[in-house]
Amino acid sequence: MREVAVIGIGITKFGELWDKSFRQLIAEAGSKAILDAGIEGKEIDEMYVGSMSSGRFVGQEHVGALVADAAGFSHMHIPSTRVEGACASGGLAVRQGYLSIASGMNDIVVVGGMEKMNDVGGNDATATLATAADQEWEAFFGTTFPALYAMIATRHMHEYGTTKEQLAQVAVKNHANGAKNPYAQYRREITLELAMNATTVAYPLGLLDCSPVTDGAASLILCAADKAKKYTDKAIKIIGSGQGSDSLALHGRRDICTLDATVHAAKTAYKQAGITSKDIDFAEVHDCFTIAEICAIEDLGFVKKGEGGKAIDNKITTLDGSLPVNTSGGLKSKGHPVGATGVAQMVEVTQQLRGEAEARQLKDAKIGLAHNVGGSGATCVIHIMEAM
Ligand code: COA
Repeated sequence: MREVAVIGIGITKFGELWDKSFRQLIAEAGSKAILDAGIEGKEIDEMYVGSMSSGRFVGQEHVGALVADAAGFSHMHIPSTRVEGACASGGLAVRQGYLSIASGMNDIVVVGGMEKMNDVGGNDATATLATAADQEWEAFFGTTFPALYAMIATRHMHEYGTTKEQLAQVAVKNHANGAKNPYAQYRREITLELAMNATTVAYPLGLLDCSPVTDGAASLILCAADKAKKYTDKAIKIIGSGQGSDSLALHGRRDICTLDATVHAAKTAYKQAGITSKDIDFAEVHDCFTIAEICAIEDLGFVKKGEGGKAIDNKITTLDGSLPVNTSGGLKSKGHPVGATGVAQMVEVTQQLRGEAEARQLKDAKIGLAHNVGGSGATCVIHIMEAM
């Protein structure tokens, strides 16, 4: 298997982007990444793009072809494929690009992720997101995503004594990080009091425990590592790639507080990288709700099961903690344009490893991890990255 590196990154501002079309968003992220890598269109072997539900959000399917067209490459007939795995669509698109280079089939691949979620109203956005849940056993009965994660949170509180305050502290931390990120949807810090007293969405989750509804796109240029030097001296190697799946509905899980898809994907990625969770310096994890970050740091092996809340109390995961988590602001504050999220997480990891994260730059970070989840945990994809 060949080694693979990231040689270019691009991202749009995240938020309610009324003045930009779906097509413009992906063209902006893709062209930034292509310019960053310094590649020419004729050097691109293949393209993969993650989008969860463009048909319902903006009435546009067939987005593989749209992306090649929007990038101005339709006359070159470059293969371009859309990948879907709910909120993990972006991470899965990266993995497909990664595998195609690792296999020897391609040398340079453009990966994109995008979603434009605000063109529909709030109720439609909630119903569209619920298509990632089990229709027969969950969504049909009115279950929404906040409700699914609320069940996980309630169980976690019952089993491990996790508190509403610990959940709120995740939001406070991620808003503090997002305030330092020029691409974030919410560039404002929040207080613990505000988070604790926010309107309840699904108990125990309040408004500020939830990721928002977001428009945005992100892109990466992947290259065979032995050819990366031709383009850049700041390539970032992908040293591990893992994916896992689980039952679509929560009730099919061994334990709803553990995302076994994460546990499986992490095991595979750590093994491939030849490291353990102790070697990770920082991580972007899928905090679609605050409880999801607490479960993630446990399932990735950063802390023991049940001790995620305590890790928040002990400030382990803050920017100056021993294991910073979601330096970008995470899905909570940076925003969560579902198909773009997995790609955007890797943009952040690349910026940190290149030393380009400005006000949120970590000192001496060598190995970063990106953790992207689909639905309530039926899909998980993890990438581990290291500066070359
Ligand atoms: N975090 C912080 N602020 C938020 C927010 C969030 N998640 N969602 C909305 N806001 C703010 C808005 O900016 C607005 O502020 P303003 O009055 O100062 O302009 C205010 O709250 C009301 O916004 P509105 O859009 O009317 O909120 P809403 O009630 O329609 O939606 C949620 C709030 C939480 C229901 C919505 O963000 C949501 O559904 N989030 C979950 C998304 C999801 O499930 N993703 C998939 C995860 S797997």
